[in-house]
Amino acid sequence: MDLASARLRRYQPADLDDLYRICLQTADSGRDGTDLFDDARLPGDVYVGPYPRFEPSLALVAEDEAGVGGYIVGAPDSLTFEQDLERDWWPALRARYPEPPPRVARELPVLQQNALHDIHHPWPTDDELARDYPSHLHINLLPRLQGRGIGRQLIAALISELRDQGSPGVHLLVGHANQRAAGFYRHVGFTELPGTAVRIFAMSLSDPADGPACQDGQRGDGAGVPRPPR
Ligand SMILES: CC(C)(COP(=O)(O)OP(=O)(O)OC[C@H]1O[C@@H](n2cnc3c(N)ncnc32)[C@H](O)[C@@H]1OP(=O)(O)O)[C@@H](O)C(=O)NCCC(=O)NCCS
Repeated sequence: MDLASARLRRYQPADLDDLYRICLQTADSGRDGTDLFDDARLPGDVYVGPYPRFEPSLALVAEDEAGVGGYIVGAPDSLTFEQDLERDWWPALRARYPEPPPRVARELPVLQQNALHDIHHPWPTDDELARDYPSHLHINLLPRLQGRGIGRQLIAALISELRDQGSPGVHLLVGHANQRAAGFYRHVGFTELPGTAVRIFAMSLSDPADGPACQDGQRGDGAGVPRPPR
């Protein structure tokens, strides 16, 4: 694990453009989605922008000599977060990105269709999921920071923060095409929930000792991982 030239730290407002760029450059199931959006701000506006705005304590970045190259963001209570967005985030985006009529939407790249759809018809968190795993997260690293243990560290840091905030569990959604991310989540202690239309991974946070084991028997609770500075 080579973290010598990379460090984790809390998000600062000056990082926002980097978060948007990273979101765009990992938007295609972890690969660069730059050519798949007419407006380069669209994926960031939908998938990362609201988190530092509404949940700044749960936004962390990974930075090396080339700058900020990765982030993790989350929300402790997904239902409250949805309400916040419905009130204070989606209305402005719905004006900026009008919903295209179906015949126009069909001609757009699928990722752009999905992002526009998510603005106008946000995916509601299932009540049962929200009861057991109310928190959720998103993590994205540029290729230069991948495979160096940084993803594990970011997950551990966010989980630690969520535990401190009293969250009993966290979930995340993974696209069916992103097999690599699914393998990573399993390896760091998430369990895939069965019988869901979208691919959902979850982790109970209520008792660290009972946390799901990784495939190799290690715990996914990030024990021993340094916490980012407050
Ligand atoms: C997926 C992602 C977050 C993983 O982060 P990462 O820094 O590359 O992963 P790490 O190096 O921290 O790996 C942590 C552990 O998971 C293991 N791992 C990583 N990918 C794995 C995979 N596909 N299958 C099994 N294990 C995997 C590593 O071997 C490592 O094991 P160890 O700690 O026991 O030695 C990162 O690669 C990424 O951002 N990818 C592009 C964007 C993306 O797909 N985001 C997720 C959207 S849902």
